[in-house]
Amino acid sequence: MIEIKNELNIDEYNYLRESVGWNKKDIDIVDTAIKNSVIIKKAMIDGKVVGMARVIGDGLYYFICDVVVDTKYQKMGIGKKIIDDIIFDIESQTMKGQSCSINLMATAEKEAFYEKCGFIKVPFDYHGYGMIKKIEK
Ligand SMILES: CC(C)(COP(=O)(O)OP(=O)(O)OC[C@H]1O[C@@H](n2cnc3c(N)ncnc32)[C@H](O)[C@@H]1OP(=O)(O)O)[C@@H](O)C(=O)NCCC(=O)NCCS
Repeated sequence: MIEIKNELNIDEYNYLRESVGWNKKDIDIVDTAIKNSVIIKKAMIDGKVVGMARVIGDGLYYFICDVVVDTKYQKMGIGKKIIDDIIFDIESQTMKGQSCSINLMATAEKEAFYEKCGFIKVPFDYHGYGMIKKIEK
């Protein structure tokens, strides 16, 4: 059975990144990133961590990042369960009569997954393209 928990440690974060072929991150940076996240989710199956996501945000804007499901456990509904849980939490925190937006940057070919979770591709209406500037040292 899939269990979603509101916690994640540094080792689990880097383990899940490596499970999908992403590089490991510096442990102090990961520690700060986890502490600065307003929502943290991990998915567990039989006591084993199989997925995660983080949200950075301030009540008006939220940004979902580090959405990862271990390659061996993909296409089982785990990613959608994590995102649904995040959306539920943000909806619960949003005051009646107020609005906020949940943003994300899909990796290549993952747009259809996010559409299944209720997200819309930009540009649309008055929204232009999402934009990014990378800093690499
Ligand atoms: C993207 C990712 C998180 C999806 O997780 P997942 O657990 O495999 O997704 P789910 O099983 O919950 O899929 C939910 C729905 O999206 C669909 N879906 C999932 N990945 C898809 C893809 N790459 N292309 C098209 N549809 C996809 C599923 O078929 C399912 O559809 P259904 O409800 O009609 O059956 C996972 O593939 C992953 O970790 N990829 C590597 C890391 C990555 O790129 N993360 C995204 C960062 S922005």
